[in-house]
Amino acid sequence: MYRTHYAEEINLTALGQAVEIAGWVHRRRDHGGIIFLDVRDRTGLVQVVVEPGDETLFQRADALRAEYVVAVIGGVRRRPEGMENPELSSGAVEIVPSSLEILAESRPLPFSINDSNNVEEFIRLQYRYLDLRRPNLFRNFFLRDQVLSAIRRFFHQHRFLDVETPALARSTPEGARDFLVPSRTQPGNFYALPQSPQIFKQLLMVAGFDRYYQIAKVFRDEDLRADRQPEFTQVDVEMAFVSQDDVLQLMEQMLHEVFAETLGVQLDPFPRLSWQQAMEQYGSDKPDLRAGEPLCDLNAVAHGLSWPVVAEAETVVGVPIRQFSPSRKVLDGLVESAKALGSPGLIWLVQGTSEIRSNGKPLGEDGQRRLAEAAGLKAGDTLLVVAGPKWEMLQVAGQLRLNLARDLDRVGDGWRFLWVTDFPLFEWSVEEGRLVSAHHPFTMPRASDWNTLEDDPLSARSQAYDVVLNGVELASGSVRIHRPEWQERIFRVLGMTEEEIQAKFGFLVNAFQYGAPPHAGIAFGFDRLIMLMAGAKSLREVIAFPKTARGTDPLMQSPSLVETSQLTTLNLKLLSP
Ligand code: AMO
Repeated sequence: MYRTHYAEEINLTALGQAVEIAGWVHRRRDHGGIIFLDVRDRTGLVQVVVEPGDETLFQRADALRAEYVVAVIGGVRRRPEGMENPELSSGAVEIVPSSLEILAESRPLPFSINDSNNVEEFIRLQYRYLDLRRPNLFRNFFLRDQVLSAIRRFFHQHRFLDVETPALARSTPEGARDFLVPSRTQPGNFYALPQSPQIFKQLLMVAGFDRYYQIAKVFRDEDLRADRQPEFTQVDVEMAFVSQDDVLQLMEQMLHEVFAETLGVQLDPFPRLSWQQAMEQYGSDKPDLRAGEPLCDLNAVAHGLSWPVVAEAETVVGVPIRQFSPSRKVLDGLVESAKALGSPGLIWLVQGTSEIRSNGKPLGEDGQRRLAEAAGLKAGDTLLVVAGPKWEMLQVAGQLRLNLARDLDRVGDGWRFLWVTDFPLFEWSVEEGRLVSAHHPFTMPRASDWNTLEDDPLSARSQAYDVVLNGVELASGSVRIHRPEWQERIFRVLGMTEEEIQAKFGFLVNAFQYGAPPHAGIAFGFDRLIMLMAGAKSLREVIAFPKTARGTDPLMQSPSLVETSQLTTLNLKLLSP
């Protein structure tokens, strides 16, 4: 009824045609009796030129203000020479209206649609419907839709079934705090919003569905960051009768196809690193491969030196930085940041044309030279060295590597994917003072690690894997345990009693007693994928109505108080009003 064309379709192919467009007044300029309107819809802008002549039309155009909603009928003509705008797909033409209708007026806006970059986030979210009018932001949602369609097509082609699992569920052990929903009919009982469909998808494998996927909304009550929201979307996948390699291959193929289809990007094959290799080479289980070369293992050289600080350290690891000869002040700053990251200190070596500058005097000239050689230092290069307990030092070195690449603006471009495999099965939780699953308790140990599981659980490795893209964890998954006695054994290593196992996971162990196929799966953080594909800095740029860092929604003003009568119905009473 309102439009024959979107703005981007008004171009030279529409020359001479009568068209109808509808949208918002993006800008109105009055050039000595001629009014220029930029009318915006979700595809872009088109220029409408109102010349004096038709008095009613001109008066209406004159009354327009920013963000009024208009419908325009008119003819398309070529813009005068020199007036074209190559940045717009409609930039070679303009519309001369025969009719201009005001469909709705707008109050002056709290911020400009053109530039809300400097607008406080709270205000942006409070007026999210205006914020979302910004073409840059809309582009992210367009991409989101494209990627989602490509993903669905892929899974459909590969005979996956899209199955919905409940949102009113029971706590699953994904490690974050649950959002609870009180039950009215079962006073004192609560549902938990799912942290993932993990258990349901495994039950679907027991049911014989064979290949499941779901674009699932999940909920986690955890501290928020730029890449964490309390509710987010997973591309959740589970497959029966597959090995780890089958999952890795198919999911990698999925990403290759999605990137080719939506961004026109041909990805390279993903390298695979074990967790241990990732830690030793990059000091991180989600290495950013764009941030320069790997860390340098200096153990062999260091352990032959006479200075106990390096000779006796469990691990000596270096961060080589090419063509970087910082001042003493900058180096002192690096020592401080290494200490802040948890290292006892930092030894630096700066290679000159013949001499080495270093704060590691006790190394002597010979020790300094041998370390520099081990790292392949050339004139103008710097080496940062930390020495101490292995995993701590690797992480400090990994963080220094990243920080320097960022500070020196040396993080390269591109889509640097990798698989990280063989994660530890368990971790020691300092907070809880007990063993916890590194991924989740349904993860299969590596076959060779069952023997030592009880005696040395922290050395056990699992058949768990992550997809990492440019230093961000994009997906996690694992081969699952499918035998009830194996699952019970893992629960026992985790310190659960028989009663606890029955109370918390009885239904799963029971299900496994009726013939569970070997199965494996994975879940992608869909919002994170879109954030990276869109080049956005935060999940808030790719979620239509996100929460603030404090977990609130300034637009709907949630969370909110509720009526006392609602609480009474739920058999609840607040401790404090
Ligand atoms: P996991 O807990 O690793 O695995 O989650 C899978 C992926 O979800 C994304 N993600 C998040 N995205 C936005 N905000 C958050 N708060 C958030 N937390 C996690 C990450 C992560 O890699 N059930 C298992 C998967 C499986 O084993 O199949 C699971 O949920 O990108």
